[in-house]
Amino acid sequence: MNTINSNLTKWSFASRIFHWISAILLLVTWVMIFLYGNLDDKFYIGLHKAFGISLLFWMIARVINRIFTKAPPAVAMPKWQILLSQLSHFFLYALLIAMPTAGLLMSVYGGRAVDIFGLFQIPVFVTPDRGLARLFNDWHTDILWPMIIAFTLIHIGAALYHQFIKKDNLIARMK
Ligand code: HEM
Ligand code: HEM
Repeated sequence: MNTINSNLTKWSFASRIFHWISAILLLVTWVMIFLYGNLDDKFYIGLHKAFGISLLFWMIARVINRIFTKAPPAVAMPKWQILLSQLSHFFLYALLIAMPTAGLLMSVYGGRAVDIFGLFQIPVFVTPDRGLARLFNDWHTDILWPMIIAFTLIHIGAALYHQFIKKDNLIARMK
């Protein structure tokens, strides 16, 4: 094995499940809006919202889990890299909560209840307001989404850098 790092302490089982299910939910939520954009079938926007809300609940549970989880000690790297990784992880958490929240607010301010897989509905819990619906729509599509793409690409790029250039087996901590 081509590892030079003896620090193989892993993230807890719960943290690893939370991490990978979040990534899958993000991907599925995106696939649904992609299908909606291309097939223009209302079915997919419904699923987009339901998976997006699922991710919101998942992230809330993940943050609670994170508060009670002791992170494994950082792998050997310069201090600025540790700081940057912590900052970007914080942004990823914030974005994955802000994005579905903006989606939800866009819907309810638009006067539309949100159906969750036909199981239950999130009712219109605000007074509908076109201006606010538009504002949250802008945040959803023009601000938060590009930020999610950017931070996710940086994140995966950093993981690949550790795997193939530094070869410190960082990914094993999350596997
Ligand atoms: C993390 C979760 C979510 C992600 C990553 C996400 C991502 C996206 C993306 C990429 C678009 C397309 C933007 C474009 O047209 O360029 C979109 C549109 C949309 N999303 Fe989400 N979304 C999420 C959660 C939600 C939630 C929870 C709701 C509502 C409950 C929602 C409602 C909508 C609606 C209604 C549109 C269409 C907007 C329009 O066509 O003007 N999204 N979303
Ligand atoms: C191929 C895809 C991915 C790989 C290989 C990957 C890899 C990793 C690794 C190795 C860590 C732990 C870093 C450490 O131990 O210091 C981590 C943490 C994290 N990842 Fe990913 N990741 C991927 C996708 C994603 C996606 C799509 C998201 C969300 C957009 C995400 C969000 C996070 C967050 C928030 C953390 C910080 C965990 C914490 O400190 O609580 N990851 N990832």
